[in-house]
Amino acid sequence: MTLIRHANIEWDEQGNPHSHAFSDVYFATQSGLDETRHVFLKQNDLEQRFTALTAGSRLVIGETGFGTGLNFLCAWQLFAHCAKADARLHFVSVEKFPLTFSDLQRALNLWPELAAFAEPLLAQYVAVHEGFQRFVFDGGRVTLTLLIGDVLDMLPQLDGQIDAWFLDGFAPAKNPEMWTPELFAELARLAAPDSTISTFTSTGWVRRALNAAGFKMKRTPGIGHKWEVLRGVFVGWPEGAVKPLPAKPWFARPAPLTGQRKALVIGAGLAGCATAASLAARGWQVSLLERRSGLAQEASGNPQGVLYLKLSAHGTALSQLILSGFGHTRRLLENLQRGLEWDACGVLQLGFNDKEAERQVQLAQAFSADLLQLVDLPHAQTLAGINLASGGLFFPEGGWVHPPALCRFQASHLNIQLLTHCDVVELRRDGNQWQAWDGERMLDQAPVVVLAGAAEVKRFPASAELPLKRIRGQITRLAETPESAALSTVVCAEGYVAPARSGEHTLGASFNFKSDDLTPTVADHLDNLQLLQEISTDLVKRLGADRMPPEELLGFAGFRCTSPDYLPIVGPLADRSAFVEAYAVLGKDARQVPDIQCPWLEGLYINSGHGSRGLITAPLSGELLAAWLDNEPLPLPRSVAEACHPNRFALRGLIRGKA
Ligand SMILES: Cc1cc2nc3c(=O)[nH]c(=O)nc-3n(C[C@H](O)[C@H](O)[C@H](O)COP(=O)(O)OP(=O)(O)OC[C@H]3O[C@@H](n4cnc5c(N)ncnc54)[C@H](O)[C@@H]3O)c2cc1C
Ligand SMILES: C[S@@+](CC[C@H](N)C(=O)[O-])C[C@H]1O[C@@H](n2cnc3c(N)ncnc32)[C@H](O)[C@@H]1O
Repeated sequence: MTLIRHANIEWDEQGNPHSHAFSDVYFATQSGLDETRHVFLKQNDLEQRFTALTAGSRLVIGETGFGTGLNFLCAWQLFAHCAKADARLHFVSVEKFPLTFSDLQRALNLWPELAAFAEPLLAQYVAVHEGFQRFVFDGGRVTLTLLIGDVLDMLPQLDGQIDAWFLDGFAPAKNPEMWTPELFAELARLAAPDSTISTFTSTGWVRRALNAAGFKMKRTPGIGHKWEVLRGVFVGWPEGAVKPLPAKPWFARPAPLTGQRKALVIGAGLAGCATAASLAARGWQVSLLERRSGLAQEASGNPQGVLYLKLSAHGTALSQLILSGFGHTRRLLENLQRGLEWDACGVLQLGFNDKEAERQVQLAQAFSADLLQLVDLPHAQTLAGINLASGGLFFPEGGWVHPPALCRFQASHLNIQLLTHCDVVELRRDGNQWQAWDGERMLDQAPVVVLAGAAEVKRFPASAELPLKRIRGQITRLAETPESAALSTVVCAEGYVAPARSGEHTLGASFNFKSDDLTPTVADHLDNLQLLQEISTDLVKRLGADRMPPEELLGFAGFRCTSPDYLPIVGPLADRSAFVEAYAVLGKDARQVPDIQCPWLEGLYINSGHGSRGLITAPLSGELLAAWLDNEPLPLPRSVAEACHPNRFALRGLIRGKA
């Protein structure tokens, strides 16, 4: 993995930002806005194209080099000015050297006329780490997917179709590593039919290389000191060039649904509320069906959960998902009330044994200090405000969340109707509709259903075979004392304890694979107290936890829902027996890719299996699900979306001869 570094910016006397590494300017304060509008907006005909967008449709812009976000903000401003209220803008941009918050703020301060767009960007510019980072603006009308990393590493991971390319990046002569045939081939691979492209350079070899990649480029008058610029359209994959392989049929996108945009989401925990929010933001009418009397009453009813990042230094699919999910959740939380609904107090993961301490050293080498820092015992104690068992890793952007508040926020969209006391026991297919039945009554119907009922999804035949397990977990609620109020950050070892919310600390969480009973037990409270002992004997004393009669302790229990590979299960569902039949040949030769369309269960989707980290994975999974459904650019690398795909288990079963 490559460590992400921030842009090293120097400011000249006119206030222009210069890149130290590329010896080039990001933009000129005199002419920056005019240049962006001329080179990128005008040459891609965006005013006409935004105006022509029909209700519910969208335009996807792709960009190389996000820089200060000036191009993005200008495009958003134009979109806001001329697109219909229910059209959407999706902007995908790649950046190898993201600006620090203070540099971004300083750069954007130069454009008062963009303030209405720069402010929300700045408000969300947090937890921007390597990989795919999703931002949601203006109630979901504008989506930004920032790919943090080198363009040549990131674009090949992108699954999406770009309608208009902004080919930016410092001048070809100053940045020859970026302007390569490999880049142009990626722009072509991702180009939608009739995609357009423009760039500020008119350099001959760039024009020829883009032509060779499948674009038809022409020179056009420039602006200011740019005499000429280039604009073009994608005319097709060049003859004779090796076409990129399509996705394997079991991971290909189902044909997009046309017609009524209504969905039933079954289950109103973190996964269901996130799914409902992502669909509602895209104009879907959503019925959110919940068997309980309100949302977030099962696992997502925990009073305080932790934004706990169990990362790997080796860039596994899970680690990539965690980093992208953390960023997305962290940005959503900016909409909630700090102190009551969440707090960015930081999370300290203790190096509680030699193996963990060694793992933490590796992580500190693999990730930047903005994300995590190795801290010795005295430093850790200063951060936490109490005495601890050891030093560890500190995540300054982490914190705790009251999950019901996040669920409420996500379910608050006007397009979402929460239907409580609706226990769906059966799904029936009627024409192109799915009907949800509680036994006697048909509760509601729609062309799309998303199963978001954690392990309860196994009650439906379509998802009965998914290997989901329930693991009971219990937290202990401990009253804040004057001494425990010193705790100023979440501290985790095998368990976790959070600074108090509304006068109570949450201590958790026990693991029990056998019990089916959600009544809090004394045995699990004692387990939790043992976890606290391992975190800090000082805090045990400050809380008076050693003097409390365990039978008087209060708590909350719920079921985590876990898959064997610890990744969630998110995406379209296929008919399992037809799947096994269609791809039976894989049992003999795993390398075969039969040219048979996957037998999808049209309109049936799942978002489940969030284990012990739903706060980090569920909101982004809502975006992933909406991207599958609406044929949008995926908010995660293709490989990570495949690692979360519901078909992975049937596929593995076939390959291992166990299906
Ligand atoms: C004690 C404990 C501590 C935890 N701590 C953390 C933490 O610190 N950090 C973290 O990120 N995660 C934590 N988790 C995990 C996190 O809470 C879960 O990953 C997350 O809540 C899962 O959300 P969900 O929506 O998938 O499931 P749930 O919250 O269980 O929601 C499923 C919903 O579906 C409903 N439902 C099910 N079937 C049907 C049906 N057929 N019809 C109608 N409704 C139905 C249920 O009533 C329920 O409301 C913890 C979990 C527990 C139990
Ligand atoms: C001229 S600036 C872009 C200006 C930007 N579009 C704006 O609106 O402010 C060029 C950007 O490309 C980025 N960049 C350069 N080489 C890159 C690469 N190989 N991969 C990703 N980003 C790169 C730089 O870090 C810089 O932010």
